[in-house]
Amino acid sequence: MKVNSALILCFLLLGNWQMSTAKTTKSNNPTQINFTQNLPTEGNLILAVFQDGQLGPQGQAMDKANDGALSHAIQAADFEANIKTTHLITAPMESGFDQILLVGLGQQDDNKTDLQWQEIGGHAVQKAVKAFKTVPAFKADVSALDNSHKIVAHMAYGAKLGSYYFDKYYTDEKRHKHQNSLTFITDDANQVREYYNQELDAVANGIWFTRDIANEPANVIFPQSFVDQWRNHFKDVDNIKIKVLDEKDMLKKGMGAIYGVGRGSDKPPRMMIVEYMGGEKGEAPIVLVGKGITFDTGGISIKGSTNMWNMKFDMSGAAGTMGTLYALAGRHAKVNVIGIAALAENMPDGNAQRPGDVVTSMSGKTIQIRSTDAEGRLVLADGVYYGDMTYNPALLVDIATLTGSASRALGKDYGALFSRHDELIAPFIEAGKQSGDEVWQLPLNDNHFKAIENNVADVMNSGPDAPGASAGAAFIGTFIRDTTPWVHLDTAGVSWSDKTTPVKASPGSTSFGVRLLNQYIKNNFE
Ligand code: BES
Ligand code: MN
Ligand code: ZN
Repeated sequence: MKVNSALILCFLLLGNWQMSTAKTTKSNNPTQINFTQNLPTEGNLILAVFQDGQLGPQGQAMDKANDGALSHAIQAADFEANIKTTHLITAPMESGFDQILLVGLGQQDDNKTDLQWQEIGGHAVQKAVKAFKTVPAFKADVSALDNSHKIVAHMAYGAKLGSYYFDKYYTDEKRHKHQNSLTFITDDANQVREYYNQELDAVANGIWFTRDIANEPANVIFPQSFVDQWRNHFKDVDNIKIKVLDEKDMLKKGMGAIYGVGRGSDKPPRMMIVEYMGGEKGEAPIVLVGKGITFDTGGISIKGSTNMWNMKFDMSGAAGTMGTLYALAGRHAKVNVIGIAALAENMPDGNAQRPGDVVTSMSGKTIQIRSTDAEGRLVLADGVYYGDMTYNPALLVDIATLTGSASRALGKDYGALFSRHDELIAPFIEAGKQSGDEVWQLPLNDNHFKAIENNVADVMNSGPDAPGASAGAAFIGTFIRDTTPWVHLDTAGVSWSDKTTPVKASPGSTSFGVRLLNQYIKNNFE
């Protein structure tokens, strides 16, 4: 259906996109989101329109102030307003505006989900980054819909995610897309701001920091600098305690598995433990453990050179764990959550561990190293054991870019989900659908545990006769009591993507896990 005079929701942007300056890009601070009631009269604007509906009260006022130029321009554009389509109109006659970017909202009455509104916001901001050179304001006027303040807030949240760019290493200012701020104009600005600031902004910041740290090359992010950067992010957050184990602490605690992985690198391993106690005192916490291999060469079982550069992302699980803690603490969630980042760099040198070596994990179980390239499960063996025994968790989740096998099975659309507690599967899949970080179950059964039995040590770190992703899951499960509710997430296929989505413009880290875990915890623990 054509949009005729029927322009509706006018969510419009105006003003000047400020292409960021060299001075501001290095920090890559998250885009600041503002809400105001002031109607724009000039500059650029985004008008978001439903397929058939009415111009909202603020939109009508603006149209009137411009002698009907807005509705004329939309009519003339012959724009169908399908969801996530755009159309740029330059210099509409009689109006004070320079350019109007029309954004399609699809049907007005189809009860879009929060995620759909987020994607509309993210998509619009990405188109606007391309269309405008100067800082815009969004005019959001969805007052015809129920809960319009939430809708505007979700569009703003999506816009903040969609405005993330990893552009700090360009020296050419023209290539910078970083936006310092985005302003939404809406008649219920105070209500929107309050709702947005309750939760959404903190989650968006957690995602920004996760992406930033996962995108950094391995000469910048190594175990100690990972700790330093997150410590810095957490310094303004309440209720946070941080503990860091260095290689000496690891030896004292008998963490021979993570220690062994770190031995071949000049950059020593670390275990970063962040406690956020926002819930009841004495209530069992949720423990999240992330694989934090800051670079995975494969070690002595060295990888081929073609795509090795990408193994800088092998700490995405650890980054997502910290990003989730940041999101939960930032939005003052009433839960107790512990984040553990198991950090090491997997390098080959004269001190590196070898295939065939036997190491003893903190649990006391011995491990034969079959491949030094199956290192993620080794750092996690000590990470999950430490988390399980120290905190007696109500739920333990590990998240790791663990196997090529998981990514071959599920591609780029789903993270792989494993559990020996069947009742955890459906709510995780549901949280994935709601949040946009989707997961799908892969099998984990006794055969997978059998496949990693070994004739020299208690277990070996690969199970050549089992599907790789399931063998990896079984290995990690070996170090967790089977009475502890546990979920393993293998995100090898989904933590990195060169594809642009509405909520992720920049090629690279997807921050997979932050939205999922935040949503799961919100649904099941709050
Ligand atoms: N970090 C890799 C997994 C990976 C591979 C992630 C490709 C993304 C893309 C992991 O440490 C690894 O090397 N896994 C091996 C395990 C094998 C040696 C048992 C794999 O999947 O091949
Ligand atoms: Mn590896
Ligand atoms: Zn790895």
